[in-house]
Amino acid sequence: MFETLTRVPADPILGVSAAFQKDDSPIKVDLGVGVYKDDAGRTPVPGAVKRAEHDLIAAQTSKSYLSPIGNPGFNLRVAELVLGADLAGRKSDIAAAQAPGGSGALRLGAELVKLARPAASVHVSDPTWANHIPLLGSAGLQVERYPYYDAGRHSVDIDRMLAHLDALPAGSVVVLHACCHNPTGQDLDLAQWSAVAEVVARRGLLPYVDIAYQGLGDDLERDAASVRILAKAVPEMLVAVSCSKNFGLYRERTGLLIAVSASAEQAAVNTGQLGRIARTIYSMPPDHGAAIVDKVLSTPTLRTEWTTELASMASRINGLRTILASHLTLHTGGADFSWITRQRGMFSRLDLSPEQVTRLRDEYHVYMAPDGRINIAGISETNVAHVATAVATVARAG
Ligand SMILES: Cc1ncc(COP(=O)(O)O)c(C=O)c1O
Repeated sequence: MFETLTRVPADPILGVSAAFQKDDSPIKVDLGVGVYKDDAGRTPVPGAVKRAEHDLIAAQTSKSYLSPIGNPGFNLRVAELVLGADLAGRKSDIAAAQAPGGSGALRLGAELVKLARPAASVHVSDPTWANHIPLLGSAGLQVERYPYYDAGRHSVDIDRMLAHLDALPAGSVVVLHACCHNPTGQDLDLAQWSAVAEVVARRGLLPYVDIAYQGLGDDLERDAASVRILAKAVPEMLVAVSCSKNFGLYRERTGLLIAVSASAEQAAVNTGQLGRIARTIYSMPPDHGAAIVDKVLSTPTLRTEWTTELASMASRINGLRTILASHLTLHTGGADFSWITRQRGMFSRLDLSPEQVTRLRDEYHVYMAPDGRINIAGISETNVAHVATAVATVARAG
């Protein structure tokens, strides 16, 4: 039977990691894979998460099934974390289902759209996270791109973005990165979010917000401002939340799909449909990560500890942005890299061709995604000069 299948081409980002592992140079630097790293290049488990996990294991008396929509405490607390005070006014309008990671949440939402409006098209930013198109497309939805990043000016091309959204048919789905845009690091400012909310509401579009880095940009509140602006403007929206990065729970597969619904009755329908979708794919989401998040968010001491740890991750990344920009300016003889300091989250995209990215890897042992996306958290005080010299040399050679 399976002889009909063909080989899957190597995943470009996972390929970067594999090549990095094989390189035994002492000066190698991994700016490829999208995980947070500390100064020592490790991806730590936050102390609050470790403590919550310890307490949970000690107290857990059963591993019996929960339900297709998961842990209700987790669902409520994460929805509150993202939607903030707005949740209070529309609590009964919220449908939420725990999912296997942000990816699982994105897929649940796509399946819900497919059920409700099989012909709806989904629009993602150009560029976007490499998995958005395959993941949403696999639900059977048609995926298209809207203009987003102006690489020459290192800013959002807001006029083209708004004009594009303004021409979409009602009922189209617009995928938006709440903060820490992947791969560019370039977010909308608050005025731009309001302008997007206005178009989306007026045109009857469905915002589908992907929030995978809350707390890693500015802080928990500011990083969710976009979601709250949209939630105030529209009757319905979807939000896919990932707890992989901000709780360091990557492999535990912890995420949430929120469907802000037009009424309490619709929310009940949406909850039932989400449960049914989950039941027909994986039956129930994995428990452990969500139980940890629930514990951290509902225990004041753990919550404070986690918030402080998250703030220090964000501040480390933002500090590295400043250091990298000044080293690049120095090594290129004065070119302006201040845009790196204005971007947020783990990523920025350097203006490099795939050939230049290959040279950086082969000659300088500096690894990054083929499109020039770098993980800022992979920079450190020790390797920044090497990275900046290598990038400047390769860029100068053209
Ligand atoms: C923009 C974006 N959305 C969603 C995800 C999904 O994260 P996960 O499925 O690991 O929770 C990621 C992970 O890299 C991401 O960058």
